[in-house]
Amino acid sequence: MKIDIITIFPEIAEAPLQASIMGRAASSGKVEFGFHNLRDYTTDKHRQVDDIPYGGGPGMVMKPEPFFAAVEALRSEQTKVLLMTPQGKPFVQAKAAELSGEEHLIILCGHYEGIDHRVVEALVDEEISIGDYVLTNGTIAAAVVADAVVRLIPGVLGDDASSEVESFSGDGKRVEAPQYTRPAEFRELPVPEVLLSGNHKAIDDWRRARADERTRENRPDLLE
Ligand code: ADE
Repeated sequence: MKIDIITIFPEIAEAPLQASIMGRAASSGKVEFGFHNLRDYTTDKHRQVDDIPYGGGPGMVMKPEPFFAAVEALRSEQTKVLLMTPQGKPFVQAKAAELSGEEHLIILCGHYEGIDHRVVEALVDEEISIGDYVLTNGTIAAAVVADAVVRLIPGVLGDDASSEVESFSGDGKRVEAPQYTRPAEFRELPVPEVLLSGNHKAIDDWRRARADERTRENRPDLLE
């Protein structure tokens, strides 16, 4: 899979995607990341990427021409083009799974007040939001989406099973049960005894009950 990120701050996407598991996924060839500076696709001397909004109002709007030039230079037949924006559809695990089967993603990152809507109409397949809050920069959101997608490519996680038993995948979405490691007692805080019992049936029952409890407490929306 190839993922091209188009942004005025490529270094913001490079840092999280070149380290740790994402860095290894790239060096082993499971994914190829491209970090592109939108300003490289401008043609004027000031490398201008934004301008004042038609109709008035505060802030600046990102100009269409550099986005068109960048996407036209990078896309092929198989490309899916995403735009990171708080106005997009909420990003969920099922979308990450779907995108992990794509050949080529181009991710456009907004900044400032917004982006000329002709970009959305003519170039973008899907507008994606990572949550109901506003970031200064869509590049952070692009790194989040790229990480969630790439970790689902077979072979990227050491143990493929670990992406199967986790929160938000499979039927009956819920958050996971709490986990513990050694020591068995720390500052008078013991690990729940059932986890030390070796009784797998009892451990499974305990985990299911704790997962339900935690879901009711933290994510009642998943149970609706
Ligand atoms: N850009 C700014 N805020 C964002 C969000 N919540 N999701 C995606 N892109 C964004």
